[in-house]
Formats: sequence, C-alpha cells, structure tokens
Amino acid sequence: MNVVIKELGNDSKEIKDVQDFLFKMIKKEFGYDYVPEWHQDIVNLEEYYINPQRNNFFVAYLETGEIIATIGIRAYDKDFPEFRHLYSRDTTSSIWRLFVDERCRRCGLASKMFQIAENFANGVEFKNIYLHTHKTLPGALEFWTKMGFVVALDSNDELETVHMDKEIKRLDINPLASDFTYAVKL
Ligand SMILES: CC(C)(COP(=O)(O)OP(=O)(O)OC[C@H]1O[C@@H](n2cnc3c(N)ncnc32)[C@H](O)[C@@H]1OP(=O)(O)O)[C@@H](O)C(=O)NCCC(=O)NCCS
Repeated sequence: MNVVIKELGNDSKEIKDVQDFLFKMIKKEFGYDYVPEWHQDIVNLEEYYINPQRNNFFVAYLETGEIIATIGIRAYDKDFPEFRHLYSRDTTSSIWRLFVDERCRRCGLASKMFQIAENFANGVEFKNIYLHTHKTLPGALEFWTKMGFVVALDSNDELETVHMDKEIKRLDINPLASDFTYAVKL
C-alpha cells in the first residue's frame, strides 16, 4: 500500500476532506460530535496550522486520495497555570490531532507522522514538545512513551488526562567531516 504524507496547504477541498476525516475519527474514538470549546483548531485549520510559519499540519493519503492519518503541530498556545514555568510559545511546540485509520494501525504510520512533525519543530527552533492525551485511549500512553515523551502531570480528572512532554534532542554534525576524510586517507 503506497502512502504519501503531505503538508496541508490552503486548498479548500483538501481542508474540507481533513475536517471530515477528523470529525469522523473523533466520533469513532470519543463518541461525540463538534464541541465549540474543544474544536476551534479544526474549524479554523488555516489560522491554527497552515498560516503561521512555525505551525504545520501533515496528512497521509492512500493513492486513491483517501486520508488515513493526520497530525498537527503548533506553538504552545495554552495557559495552563501549572505549566507557566515550563512551556512558552517561543520554545514549546504542541502536538494535536494524531489519528490513524484503524485499518492501518501498528504499521508504524503514527511513528512516521510524529517523526515528520518533530523534524519540523526542530527545524523551526522549538526546544520541546507538549501534548496531552487520555489514559482511556487504547495504546496512546504506550505510543507516546515509545516516542520519547514523559508524563509531566497526571491530572486524575474525569477524562483521565495526562500531560506529557519531550525535549527535542539536537545533534549538530559538521557536514565537512574533515577529520573523517583525513582518517580515510591514512
Ligand atoms: C495511538 C495511534 C495514533 C497509534 O497509531 P499507529 O500507527 O498504530 O502507531 P505505530 O504503529 O506507529 O505504533 C508505534 C508503537 O506505539 C505503541 N502502540 C501503538 N498502538 C498501541 C496499542 N494499541 N497498544 C499498545 N501499544 C501501542 C507500540 O509500542 C508500537 O510499536 P509496535 O507496533 O512495534 O509494538 C492510533 O492507535 C490511533 O489513531 N488511535 C486513536 C486516536 C489516538 O489515540 N490518538 C493519539 C492520542 S492523542
């Protein structure tokens, strides 16, 4: 199965397809429809992900054009009092809307989507990544732990929300690699 992962652009048909996919997945996974307080980023994808330079939204398509996965990444724009000392809009990115069609799970697609989002965040100079998830979602905590996230706060609320973060590790390797060339000559 060939899968193409693309950055979402300002194309109204593509945006509408992504919104339909997200609301379909939300209904399937969480059992509810559009909730204005929670879903402003979905109804305003341009404002939240597409237009700001340090934000992005990635979509995985089958060859048929069908959407099978999504992930959004944007500068931290929450104001949770417990995290004021930890995260800021300048240094922290945040992950949203990771969904993989259930027919395509456990094939590494979410890992690939996250890798692309993390590379993007690194490229635009964020230092860490924040997300929150819920212990009720099958495999979510395991998945994020495998991606290198640690629990920052287990809120023990009704929705079993867990806040997690990950430092972006940056290794600057000198592309000239002059020592290596010298060693080979010897
Ligand atoms: C969670 C989710 C994104 C994982 O997508 P995926 O493409 O199946 O994930 P991957 O194949 O990249 O999994 C990577 C690793 O995460 C862990 N993992 C993923 N799903 C898991 C599950 N259901 N149970 C236990 N571990 C799981 C495993 O360690 C897995 O590696 P392995 O398959 O070699 O054992 C997907 O199940 C999903 O869309 N769920 C509904 C929405 C959701 O929960 N979103 C994320 C929470 S915010």
